[in-house]
Amino acid sequence: MGSWWRYFMGTEGKSGFGSMSTAEDVTEGLNLEDYTAIVTGATAGIGLETARVLAKRGARVIFAVRNVKLGETLKAEFMKESPHARILVMHMNLSDLASVRAFAAKFKDSRLPLNILVNNGGISSTTGPQSTPDGLELMFATNFLGHFLLTELLLDTMRETAKESGIQGRIVIVSGHLHNFTPKGGIAFDKLINQNEIWGFSGYGQSKLAGILHGRELAERLTAEGANITVNSLHPGAVQTKLTHLDGFLGFLISKIAFHTSSKPTVDAAATQVYVATHPQVHGVTGKYFADYNEYELRGLAMDKKLQLKLWKWTEEYLKTH
Ligand SMILES: NC(=O)c1ccc[n+]([C@@H]2O[C@H](COP(=O)([O-])OP(=O)(O)OC[C@H]3O[C@@H](n4cnc5c(N)ncnc54)[C@H](OP(=O)(O)O)[C@@H]3O)[C@@H](O)[C@H]2O)c1
Repeated sequence: MGSWWRYFMGTEGKSGFGSMSTAEDVTEGLNLEDYTAIVTGATAGIGLETARVLAKRGARVIFAVRNVKLGETLKAEFMKESPHARILVMHMNLSDLASVRAFAAKFKDSRLPLNILVNNGGISSTTGPQSTPDGLELMFATNFLGHFLLTELLLDTMRETAKESGIQGRIVIVSGHLHNFTPKGGIAFDKLINQNEIWGFSGYGQSKLAGILHGRELAERLTAEGANITVNSLHPGAVQTKLTHLDGFLGFLISKIAFHTSSKPTVDAAATQVYVATHPQVHGVTGKYFADYNEYELRGLAMDKKLQLKLWKWTEEYLKTH
């Protein structure tokens, strides 16, 4: 891969896995036949590898994607590798709340169980401010809000599945270390709607911080009600994908230099989320943040309970009216 990462950062953490471990390594010997998983953003990058490995290990995997045609093509390719794979491709556009609601309704109608939800799909915008038709900042809408709504709508199914199967449910939120690069105060509540100030790294960081705060609050709530479901967030690692593509010549140079020196291959980058979603070592662990298959200590705004509650309240209010 041409990066020093694999050669110098391959040391193992407590989990026994290191930066050189792939998603296949961390699921070696696991039989996921009793599991059903939803992976958002399964048409590219880290989500695609996550979905592939979960399916290869026997899980029924629902690709929740906005490009169904591409999803079906990828499914056909997977089936060549694993002819018994159980894959369903379903439409969902994370930045469109109506589409998320339609996906959840269709999924519930199918009466399928749900053990694992991987909130992976995401965008980064480097070209300038972008919004949904409702005026909501697009990265916040896609990376955070769409997933918040999806999770809320699927929770009952996850609760029931966990009860009936005895298998602990797992919600996995793909965040990233850029959650530290945010507007002042972490979430610029007054600039989320009809604004053109928040974009680029700070908008991306804001959406990723929101994912972590969502995960921590939900973990607390599910623990308090006694639900057999864990919620954890994570940093997959730096990997060159569509998402990290920077526009323009300068962007091209930055991404080439940054990613040549520090990025992982996608097979490694998918490993942390597959580990958190499936590995027996993570049983019962909730409300945590992982990087390189090991718990990673959060600091600052990511641990701010007041901000966590403020975001939850803001989100509930927004969803009541949209
Ligand atoms: N790459 C990194 O270095 C890195 C580092 C830290 C965290 N992450 C996180 O890892 C996750 C996966 O990123 P990646 O690098 O694999 O990116 P990617 O290759 O660009 O894949 C992103 C996936 O999300 C989907 N997606 C985007 N917008 C969507 C929408 N509105 N509705 C439904 N699906 C949508 C994309 O679908 P389309 O094919 O339709 O666009 C694609 O399948 C993201 O949450 C990202 O923030 C990545």
